[in-house]
Amino acid sequence: MPGTDKKQLDTVLKEARRFKPSKEFRKQAHIGSEAEYRRLYKKSIQNPEKFWAGIASELHWFKQWNQVLDAKKKPFYRWFVGGKTNLSYNCLDRHLDSPTRHKAAIVWEGEPGDRRVLTYGDLHRDVCVFVNGLKKLGIQKGDRVAIYLPMTPELVIAVLACARIGAVHTVIFAGFSAESIRDRVQDCQAKLIITGDGGWRRGKVLPLKDIVDEALSDAPSVASVVVVRRNLDNPLPCHMKDGRDHWYHELIDGMSADCPAEKMDSEDLLFLLYTSGTTGKPKGIIHTTGGYMVFTYLTTKYTFDLKPEDMFWCTADIGWVTGHSYIIYGPLQNGATCLLYEGAPDWPHRGRFWEMIQRYRVNIFYTAPTAIRAFMKWGDEWPNKYDLSSLRLLGTVGEPINPEAWMWYHKTIGHKNCPIVDTWWQTETGGIMITPLPGVTETKPGSATLPFFGVAPAILNDAGKEVNAGYLAITQPWPGMLRGVYGDPERYRQTYWSKWKDIYFPGDGARRDKDGYYWIVGRVDDVVNVAGHRIGTAELESIFVEHPRVAESAVIGVAHELKGQAMVAFVSLRDGNTETDALEQELKDWVVKKIGKFALPDRIVFSGDLPKTRSGKIMRRLLRDVAEGRALGNVTTLADATVVEKLKVQYEED
Ligand code: PRX
Repeated sequence: MPGTDKKQLDTVLKEARRFKPSKEFRKQAHIGSEAEYRRLYKKSIQNPEKFWAGIASELHWFKQWNQVLDAKKKPFYRWFVGGKTNLSYNCLDRHLDSPTRHKAAIVWEGEPGDRRVLTYGDLHRDVCVFVNGLKKLGIQKGDRVAIYLPMTPELVIAVLACARIGAVHTVIFAGFSAESIRDRVQDCQAKLIITGDGGWRRGKVLPLKDIVDEALSDAPSVASVVVVRRNLDNPLPCHMKDGRDHWYHELIDGMSADCPAEKMDSEDLLFLLYTSGTTGKPKGIIHTTGGYMVFTYLTTKYTFDLKPEDMFWCTADIGWVTGHSYIIYGPLQNGATCLLYEGAPDWPHRGRFWEMIQRYRVNIFYTAPTAIRAFMKWGDEWPNKYDLSSLRLLGTVGEPINPEAWMWYHKTIGHKNCPIVDTWWQTETGGIMITPLPGVTETKPGSATLPFFGVAPAILNDAGKEVNAGYLAITQPWPGMLRGVYGDPERYRQTYWSKWKDIYFPGDGARRDKDGYYWIVGRVDDVVNVAGHRIGTAELESIFVEHPRVAESAVIGVAHELKGQAMVAFVSLRDGNTETDALEQELKDWVVKKIGKFALPDRIVFSGDLPKTRSGKIMRRLLRDVAEGRALGNVTTLADATVVEKLKVQYEED
């Protein structure tokens, strides 16, 4: 398998530790016995339509579906066909006639320490008022709306307002550059951008509006910009363009809070989320209303064993899918209280997260392995200073977790009392697919364990034969699945459904042990997972090649102690250019300008030539050998074997 980290695979193969949920946890859990998991799982796989119809009935539908799953036009599956619902309604209105109305939906803390609490009633009112503001700007069902905001309550309000009116939201992570915003806005022809005058990160203001202004220099589809003031009493400097830009607080001033939710067809678009793939251009992953709604509702309830009294903290940014599904849609449908935090974990000190867990008595904490490895490095003294006894469940997502980090999480954060759910899923899957159930599953550090209800995984080889180590595959459709790639149905078919017939290919390698547990070992395609952020090597290569001094480039992912993976870029220059530190810096600035800081490779290596086959194909496998300090693999197919030998010497000397 290309891209599989051999060392990591060896480590997990030797892992023998087992952790059972405690009796107390088991007793109080929604699902507390293995027999019940097996019974429900069997039912969900043998008769998925009946199973999912039962779950969907727990939610509100304006009109019931007449068919649960339509598989006539594979792989263009449709769920809850003919049903009419609204996800914003299910997150808000559904709770208004119960005591949940007065319960906190969002407990927010800004990086500088400012705080706000929004009850379900408050959130409902704010969303309705904003929808009326959006209507005034001419936004209607089906319009695309880009959202580029810091992690503040207005981000949640904006997302739910779009869902309520039926506008398709595309949230752009606030670390993306102006050019990345422009690409996305152009691709989906967004009519409106919702942004802010700024947000806080590590004590500095992110000048979001300036970045949006730059992006809009060539985005004619955008007719209006709504600008949220991060702090009403203390506006951050930004330019407002007459006729196009509107302050959020002025737009909603005096607006009515009366705003019935749009009756959305189950298959109406809910959101687009751009993600990197194996080609140069990020793709807009399509999620629709009904199936995504039901899937996020159930996965949240069971994976996190969510109870009405829980304080749930998912530390992801809403700019990524984890924030969509497990800060907004899943928890709010379940009537939960979510903690939302704006800033960095090490600001103003490295104990910020633990201090917040203590302050808000957080019960469920869901974060990424890359963050856990950073916490480990910062030292136990930080978490040990705080009272973490409120925690009852821990979770991880985004990349494989190494057993050492898992054990640290278990001991130092969970004090050996909290089950850990290592949840495998993707932007494309909409929600959690492989995960322990905390009251049931005996966990093994590093394994995502067993499939969630309705999820049918397999491990296949290229020929589609079942094996114990190979490619992860999903053999049945599930409600949260993506419905396509925006504007490119062929790419959808090619990327996900062409490897085997009618089987979904996620792009990950995996192994199954004798207990049937799944161990995800990482991407098998040219997607690199840097600190939980997906970056396509082809995307970065094409950015380098756009630079006037660069002739060619090859980007590879290598193992990295903290980030899981890091990128190394091999760059060969056009004739007449010299390899200087200044040029290296220029190339780094170029990447930041084109994508954003988080996509910076760890190393840029200038190489006179790149190792190629006689037919001109760059041999990335050999570049990985060079970067990971291994003996070079087979070089006989190279046009010129000395190229890679020289590169190896140069790499080791640098
Ligand atoms: O390689 C897998 C890895 O993250 C990829 C999906 O990335 P993205 O769409 O950005 O979504 C991240 C959050 C859901 C997968 O193809 N991945 C995600 N979770 C895990 C994981 N790898 C191993 N174990 C996990 N728990």
